Amino acid sequence: MTSYKDKVAGILSKRETPPLFYIRSFGCQQNVSDGEKTAGLLYSMGCGVSPDIASADIIIYNTCAVRESAELKIYGMIGELKHLKEKNPELIIGICGCMAQEEKTVKKILSVYKQVDLIFGTFALEELPRLLYEVLANRKTVSATDEYGMKINEGIPVLRTEKFKASVPVMYGCDNFCSYCIVPYVRGRERSRRPSDILNEVRTLAESGCREIMLLGQNVNSYGKGLDEKINFSGLLRLINETEGDFRIRFMSSHPKDADFELIDTIIECGKVCKHLHLPVQSGSSRILKEMNRGYTAEKYKEIIDYARMRMHGFSFSTDIIVGFPNETGEDFRETLDMLDYVRFDNIFSFIYSKRTGTKAALLTDNTLPENKSERMRILLEKQKRINEENYKRFKGRILDVLFDGKSKTPGYISGKSDEFIIAEALCEDLSVIGSQKKVRVTETMNWAVRGEIV
Ligand code: 5AD
Ligand code: SF4
Repeated sequence: MTSYKDKVAGILSKRETPPLFYIRSFGCQQNVSDGEKTAGLLYSMGCGVSPDIASADIIIYNTCAVRESAELKIYGMIGELKHLKEKNPELIIGICGCMAQEEKTVKKILSVYKQVDLIFGTFALEELPRLLYEVLANRKTVSATDEYGMKINEGIPVLRTEKFKASVPVMYGCDNFCSYCIVPYVRGRERSRRPSDILNEVRTLAESGCREIMLLGQNVNSYGKGLDEKINFSGLLRLINETEGDFRIRFMSSHPKDADFELIDTIIECGKVCKHLHLPVQSGSSRILKEMNRGYTAEKYKEIIDYARMRMHGFSFSTDIIVGFPNETGEDFRETLDMLDYVRFDNIFSFIYSKRTGTKAALLTDNTLPENKSERMRILLEKQKRINEENYKRFKGRILDVLFDGKSKTPGYISGKSDEFIIAEALCEDLSVIGSQKKVRVTETMNWAVRGEIV
């Protein structure tokens, strides 16, 4: 029986030139990774990569549903595609990702945004060949949001955007149901990939010259649950660390309720693993953490930090913070500020709470005023700016390992990330250095980056 992949390839091969696709992924690394699979599938069916949106025959927006601001922006962008479709009725427009997994969004797109041909949720990624076939053969709008089982399909091709950095999902889904978060509803239950499949992918990447491997999962610390092999995330890290090759290992995200001392020991003991942990705290108030259903207290969080810093002075932490969770008081917020003082994160990613229909927190009446929320956000960012400025001074005169990934906005400089996940710049005319890891002696520090010279 001919597969849908072959059927699509057959239709496309009759065209004079291959259709070009343009994919834009929003949101987290997991979504970017899914976008690389979508690209891989299209490429394997005979499509080419479009240099820009205007020349594309297939446009796909791979969406994020975590916050309302992201959704609104994406709706606006889908709206703008109407003009392109009017100019070129043959254009195929697809919407996928987390928004496309939500029934209410699919209904809205189907009724308002008639220019869209194809809607497929996170579970339907591998259904893309069938869906595309239906669009090409029947020129009708198709959507797929069913939960197509929870199995992991290892066979999907990946078209990677970068040569020297790669993401490798180790697990999918999330079982934590933090009260504010839509992810468990749009990405389903936790399921881990087999260690052998992950190791094979890492080996292939290392052999092809990849210098940084980012292991992905909504909560990597749950890795291994449900597998036949008895293995946890620390065990997986050790196995990957033993893989031959000149590359460094990062991962995200960890959940403080599951991050343990074994994880810290593993990071410190594994030579290839960056000495940095992204550990989303969300709030410094144990009361709010309970309301968020996070499963840890501020004290428990600090214990992990203390242990890491006891084992390795200068261990680098970054975090996510939600400001203005329903009924967050001034005192709760002060406890978040205290947490920043205590941990002295090297980076924070902060968000104003956004109500997500379908989550538990969406049912709460919120008495915290929006203007208080924005003011708290301002104070938080201001504080972290000062902390960064002071924190980064500790790097002055030190030599950092930096993987350069592009030209900096500062003329003459190239830019990359250190092992601590700090932006580092160096004056360098030789652009062939981009894509390699170099030692950089830090000569100057700012509140957003460090600068130095390659030694
Ligand atoms: N509102 C604001 N921020 C959110 N996040 C997740 N859900 C929401 C929400 N409803 C943030 C959390 C998470 C990060 C990826 O996004 O901080 O760690
Ligand atoms: Fe969302 Fe919490 Fe799961 Fe992270 S751990 S994806 S914040 S539910």
